[in-house]
Amino acid sequence: MQILAISGSLRAGSTNSHLLRAAACLAPENMNFTFYDGLADLPHFSPELDGDNPPASVIHLRELLQAADGILICTPEYAFGVPGSLKNALDWTVSTCTFSNKPVAAISASSTYMGGDKAHASLLLTLTALGANILESGKLMIAAIRTKMNSDGEVTDSATVQSLKSVVDALAQAIAAPHTIS
Ligand SMILES: Cc1cc2nc3c(=O)[nH]c(=O)nc-3n(C[C@H](O)[C@H](O)[C@H](O)COP(=O)(O)O)c2cc1C
Repeated sequence: MQILAISGSLRAGSTNSHLLRAAACLAPENMNFTFYDGLADLPHFSPELDGDNPPASVIHLRELLQAADGILICTPEYAFGVPGSLKNALDWTVSTCTFSNKPVAAISASSTYMGGDKAHASLLLTLTALGANILESGKLMIAAIRTKMNSDGEVTDSATVQSLKSVVDALAQAIAAPHTIS
């Protein structure tokens, strides 16, 4: 199973990026993770650039998404919304329907006690617009993330570890048995 992991944070040492790596460590052995690192290379979306010859970075993103059996997104909240760079990447997939029916798990993690709830809700709305197969058991909001991770980016909170495991298990189940609800 090929999983494309997308962090909504460009920050070096991002807690969201660390969470994706932690999730990968908890995943079943037959899951292979690719960590997307091209978010900052994507041009600002414009329909005029989205013609027959889209930018190479956009082609690369679309190819990674198409090759993936499932997508795992983990994002912070900025100003009550999804980070612009992540939304920009998602906008580039509209015309090609790249997310259509793709199993997707969506995590938000914030240093505040709200867990990035508004970004999470906004992300789910966008994924709905994209026709993604948003997994019910793949939805997770993590509050006060900095208290649940050590300085090496390892998740130290056992409940969070368990929640992450449930998310990757949901992805695995949805990919293995596409017609059951997870
Ligand atoms: C510009 C900016 C805006 C932010 N806005 C919010 C916000 O609206 N809600 C929230 O919960 N956290 C907000 N935060 C805090 C981030 O969610 C928090 O720093 C998060 O841990 C960043 O994720 P990262 O470690 O993956 O980079 C904001 C942070 C920055 C830098």
